[in-house]
Amino acid sequence: MIQLAGYFAVLLHAIALAGMAASLGGLVFCVLVLRPLAGDAHPGVAAVLRLGRIGIWTAVLCFLAVILLAPWGLAEDDHSWPIMEYLGTGFAQMSLVRLGLGVVFGIALSTLGRQATAPARWVLAGATGLAFALSGAWLVHAVSRLSEVVPLMLATLLHQFAALIWVGSVFALVACAGARRSEDPLWPQLLARFSPLGMACVAALVAAGVFVATRYVGDWASLIGTNYGIMVLAKLILLAIALTLAALNFHHTRRWRAGGNPQAVGRVLPIYIEAELVALVAVMLLGASLAATPPATDLTGERASLAEVIDTLAPKTPRLLPPTREALMADHASSLDFFNPATEMDKAHSNFNHNISGLLLLLIAGVAVLDRLKIARWARHWPLLFLPFALLLQVIVEPTGWPLGDEGFFAPLKNPSVVQHRLASLLPLFIGLMEWRVQTGALANTRWRYTFPSLCFLGAAVLLTHTHVATGLKAEFLIEVSHAGIALFAVLAGIGRWLELRLPPPAPRLTGVLWTGSLMAIGFLLLFYRET
Ligand code: HEM
Repeated sequence: MIQLAGYFAVLLHAIALAGMAASLGGLVFCVLVLRPLAGDAHPGVAAVLRLGRIGIWTAVLCFLAVILLAPWGLAEDDHSWPIMEYLGTGFAQMSLVRLGLGVVFGIALSTLGRQATAPARWVLAGATGLAFALSGAWLVHAVSRLSEVVPLMLATLLHQFAALIWVGSVFALVACAGARRSEDPLWPQLLARFSPLGMACVAALVAAGVFVATRYVGDWASLIGTNYGIMVLAKLILLAIALTLAALNFHHTRRWRAGGNPQAVGRVLPIYIEAELVALVAVMLLGASLAATPPATDLTGERASLAEVIDTLAPKTPRLLPPTREALMADHASSLDFFNPATEMDKAHSNFNHNISGLLLLLIAGVAVLDRLKIARWARHWPLLFLPFALLLQVIVEPTGWPLGDEGFFAPLKNPSVVQHRLASLLPLFIGLMEWRVQTGALANTRWRYTFPSLCFLGAAVLLTHTHVATGLKAEFLIEVSHAGIALFAVLAGIGRWLELRLPPPAPRLTGVLWTGSLMAIGFLLLFYRET
């Protein structure tokens, strides 16, 4: 159970981080940006505090679930839970302290929400929020280091805090955008006043992040050759995406300040801010995964070389036929056997799964491009191609499990990778059905039109929060490299389609190029995927 408990703990930690951002970051945004401009009674303040309350109680529930999951994951063969032994650990005790401080902060934020005009309530919320944030410093890798413990704790804390304020402020801007009356003159002022705070957060988190990363990654070989290193690299790419969108916002705000047309600021910027939020939440997911991954400097195993990483991604002859059932059933590792490496037949079948999926995704993306270019009217039915893809995936995704294998459907679900593969293989079904109804008009003007981009984000989230590196073997790490690439392009595909749907028409052509191009990139990563 320890793998499944570990996987759920990372997911819950990621959700808790988003909740902490909405509550702590939202509070800082109110104090430094919104209240000075609009006063306590503005509907934006109520909207941000409401989101903050939802955030803090979500974080508290997630932290409680993580504490309860741990003894379950450590359960003995006789199914007894080592609860007292677990509660005796420093980590469990600090987790309980953080949980308690979270509840106190939640109460302070709820009290503030009831009467935002009482200055004492802002002070109380601020003080309890700070204590809650500080308590996280005893729950990061730094505590277990042999050297530089205090500088690493402070740097990780500064990194986290700056990240929570940036992400929380972007959550707050989205909430304010939703709460504002049309052409609200406050909106551009909010953006202008937020810009220096945003820049200070970015500078602080990058400086602290690089300090921590140099200590935990150690050298260039580990940056590209270990799981921890690759996740830091993926964070840098997602940070670049978020900063590109933030730069767009900054550009439009500056044009407004120079007397430019407030229309663009009012109609376009809220959409770019939504996309920026998506990229930032994706980075937070990676932050939660990093917190649960052993630093590269602790790993003594072999690093994959740059050449091996490039070879993993490089074009090669795809495997478009599966190994025979006889050959596979004669030589395969059970999906419940976490520590035994995959057999040659398992790898052959996994290569077939990924390569054939890549080919189908390239076909789907190709027809979508025909539709975008208005070359053929029938091409608007491109989402229907996801249905045979989804059916094929359900059959081949777990070759030793249901429906073709002898391990059944439920037993293999103890393996987090099986859970993720089963979940991931359902995504094409929903994307296909919903997006077809959007493309053919039935759902084009309903909230369902956001299904496709939302499922792209969900797929990316599943990939960003899971690791295959049970045994730390290089082969497993190389699998991770492809998955990290697929996750990044899934975020880009979602952002492209989200902007295409949300930006006032005609949406820039670039948005269509971004999502169809990202779908194709995922297709190529899958087509050339190879387990060695
Ligand atoms: C230059 C870019 C960045 C670098 C080098 C970096 C590096 C790191 C490293 C090494 C850790 C793990 C610390 C540990 O193992 O204890 C970490 C954690 C984290 N990062 Fe970053 N990061 C970067 C950007 C970001 C951004 C843009 C965000 C969010 C907006 C972010 C949010 C987080 C969070 C929330 C954690 C803490 C997870 C936890 O322990 O609870 N990082 N980062």
